Amino acid sequence: MAYKRVLVTGASSGIGAAAAKAFAARGARLILLARNQERLEQIAGNIREGGGSAEIVVADLADSDAAGEAAKTVLDRGGPPDLLINNAGVGRWIPLIETSAEEAQAMIAVPYLAGVYLTRALLPAMIEADSGQIGFVSSPASYLAWPNATCYIAARHAVKGLADGLRSEMKPHGIGVSLIVLGTVETPYWEHNPGSRENMPETNQTLFPTLTPDEAAKAIVTGLEARKNQIVKPGLFRALFVLNALFPNLVASQLRKASKRAKRKA
Ligand SMILES: NC(=O)c1ccc[n+]([C@@H]2O[C@H](COP(=O)([O-])OP(=O)(O)OC[C@H]3O[C@@H](n4cnc5c(N)ncnc54)[C@H](OP(=O)(O)O)[C@@H]3O)[C@@H](O)[C@H]2O)c1
Repeated sequence: MAYKRVLVTGASSGIGAAAAKAFAARGARLILLARNQERLEQIAGNIREGGGSAEIVVADLADSDAAGEAAKTVLDRGGPPDLLINNAGVGRWIPLIETSAEEAQAMIAVPYLAGVYLTRALLPAMIEADSGQIGFVSSPASYLAWPNATCYIAARHAVKGLADGLRSEMKPHGIGVSLIVLGTVETPYWEHNPGSRENMPETNQTLFPTLTPDEAAKAIVTGLEARKNQIVKPGLFRALFVLNALFPNLVASQLRKASKRAKRKA
């Protein structure tokens, strides 16, 4: 199913920008949301140059009032989106002992609370429309845990809980909810969140290849158009999540070893 009006958060960079361009190429009218107005205008300009339609909303989604205002702007300009992609996110992969209270709060604020604030503000209009789809972009950290990324992992587990709870709640309203789980994607995330790459467990590139933003966007478009509950790319992560559910100690010890191997190689 093609979407007509698509709102993407975190659309000024990386996965969000690529997903916005991919939906625009399929004829959707895009609303791009993030804090950096200049970057948003640049992405919107790229979309328009390609013959697509894009408008921007500048907001800091860590602020519940600002998220509410942004939702109001979206609704005033053209009613509820038929697809909302909660993609904005931050979070360094660092040990808990090195994580300040402010940084721990920032990591839970975006993506988790940002998803709560914006979705909550748009839901009444979406419920009234009796249709729509909501996506939450997350990572294997929604299912797995490895050393030296504790607050990142906690925040992505929270995003999974939000998606699963909301899916159940929205079923009677005809609104679908998709959890989008992406492996490593080569985006500015790694520069925006210094120290993270250094704490990445060693990953087998044959089994779990690093994605380009366009590959991630393609998986997002395909999965959301099919209204899938879970979108997982690379798909082999699904097997790892099942293995983890059955043998959590085994998977945890393998991830610890992969983490140690990556540190030794660094
Ligand atoms: N890259 C990966 O390997 C990977 C893999 C799986 C999942 N993910 C997840 O996917 C999401 C997007 O990642 P990415 O790789 O595209 O990272 P990115 O290039 O750093 O983009 C993050 C986006 O979030 C926006 N953002 C951050 N804080 C915000 C706030 N307070 N209010 C509004 N927007 C905010 C940023 O825009 P402004 O700075 O303009 O506000 C930017 O557009 C993250 O949650 C990340 O954890 C990433």
